[in-house]
Amino acid sequence: MFIVNKSELKKIIDFPSALEEIKKSFIAFSEKKVLAPPPFFFDLPEENGEICLKTALIEGLPTYTVKIVSVFKSNEKIGLPTLTGTMIVFNSKTGKLLAVLNEDGWLTNLRTACAGALVDRSFRQNSARNLGVIGAGNQAEWQTRLVLGQNKGYQTVYAFDINQKKTQQYIDRMRSLFPTVSFVISASIGQLVEAADTIFTVTPAIEPLILPEMVKKGVTIIGIGADMPQKCEISPDLYAKADKIFVDSLESNLLLGGVSRSINQKKITPENISGEIGEVLAGKREGRANDREIVIVNLVGLGSQDTFIGNLVYQKMVNVVQLAER
Ligand SMILES: NC(=O)c1ccc[n+]([C@@H]2O[C@H](COP(=O)([O-])OP(=O)(O)OC[C@H]3O[C@@H](n4cnc5c(N)ncnc54)[C@H](O)[C@@H]3O)[C@@H](O)[C@H]2O)c1
Repeated sequence: MFIVNKSELKKIIDFPSALEEIKKSFIAFSEKKVLAPPPFFFDLPEENGEICLKTALIEGLPTYTVKIVSVFKSNEKIGLPTLTGTMIVFNSKTGKLLAVLNEDGWLTNLRTACAGALVDRSFRQNSARNLGVIGAGNQAEWQTRLVLGQNKGYQTVYAFDINQKKTQQYIDRMRSLFPTVSFVISASIGQLVEAADTIFTVTPAIEPLILPEMVKKGVTIIGIGADMPQKCEISPDLYAKADKIFVDSLESNLLLGGVSRSINQKKITPENISGEIGEVLAGKREGRANDREIVIVNLVGLGSQDTFIGNLVYQKMVNVVQLAER
């Protein structure tokens, strides 16, 4: 049995392999090769926190992963990280414990950023040059690193966060990583939306940030932050205005995030959802048809992503041991 810490994970996992596994996770999910209960959430009001459990069993995959990810906002006051994350990998045939991945959110951030980068690659306009990022926290950095590192074409990144210090820190870090890209702080969300061809929303907002009157034709909006029932970053009315809406999981998006709010407010019906990302990645459904469509893609996160990434780590660890034994 392996116990793998974050520092070791960083050494053994490379971005291209992770992207490939996340692509497989979307496709397996949409091909109904995934057995997954709905994610299990509960709030910790006293600690201003939340706990989330996710898991999925995949047809043909030798392992499955159970993930427990927790946010304890009050940890900030005592100087501890607010996010803790652990993935536990088991043998799919026997249930035997294979690995405990003390990932502290690193794998969750990686798998989410891979998902965002795959969506960007598949759904953005061909002519997209301007990227917008709303929220300047962990996911903002991860998404930007993966999108600019793996997908070519963006020349300018517009950033907005309610916390100006965090926006500046994000901009400074990204500039040092991508010196040929221009980074601009937007004065408002409206200004960012006007300038950007592709927009990532990566905040824990519970009220909509992007409103229908802000958007122009051809924009791609990739919603990442609203992964719980009460969260919402994209206006329910904007879903009604979109030409196409894609989601990672039809079932989960009926329960979580902006799509569910738009359906509950009767702005759209489930029939307005064009399809799942996995169907587009597998070439079974058309994604964006032209550069005029307004396309919204909403990701609430899949247990299958955790199982594929957990399996990747386990297989890499097995290889490390085999090489050492030679
Ligand atoms: N879909 C998924 O699979 C997935 C995976 C991981 C995280 N998430 C979600 O993504 C969100 C961001 O996660 P993170 O780790 O980057 O959090 P974080 O706390 O590191 O960063 C969030 C940032 O959003 C900013 N923000 C908050 N409200 C805002 C608003 N109204 N307008 C602009 N900026 C605002 C904060 O100032 C902060 O800088 C969370 O809601 C998290 O649960 C989703």
